[in-house]
Amino acid sequence: MEERKIVTSVLVYSYDELPEQYRRLVDEAKRVTSDAYAPYSKFHVGAAVLLENGEIVSGTNQENAAYPSGLCAERVTMFYANSRYPNVAPKALAIATFADGDFLEEPITPCGACRQVLLETEVRYGVDMDVLLYGRRGVYKLSSVKALLPLAFDKEALR
Ligand code: THU
Repeated sequence: MEERKIVTSVLVYSYDELPEQYRRLVDEAKRVTSDAYAPYSKFHVGAAVLLENGEIVSGTNQENAAYPSGLCAERVTMFYANSRYPNVAPKALAIATFADGDFLEEPITPCGACRQVLLETEVRYGVDMDVLLYGRRGVYKLSSVKALLPLAFDKEALR
């Protein structure tokens, strides 16, 4: 028997410590939370993707009376970015949540299905994405989706 350790590193920044480009990305994720369609959960999630061509694409969670038919902000946004700019790799993704009258103190992390979709994007474009998770008390920064999804299933398994 051998033990294989998988180590994930999360850097916690104050908003002011972030480089300007990332502050703008976080600002955009925060700004669009007011566009979320979340009448059931009242959990307004915004996501913003910075692409390698400098464009920022943003989106929000979209809920449905048939609950599982809704979609998280991360997937809405990444699918839209990949549809709109199929040949442009993403560089970074920011996520922010507004609920109960304020942005959350501690960041939320993407759900499992979103992690799988975000990982596919990294594999598809052959890049690692910075992931910025905004909280009022700090911004978590991961340098790849792989840090959120160890032992991931990807296309290598289908060979
Ligand atoms: N949600 C997101 O948009 N992103 C996440 O990372 C977690 C959850 C949405 C889905 C649903 O509309 C609401 O938040 C409550 O789960």
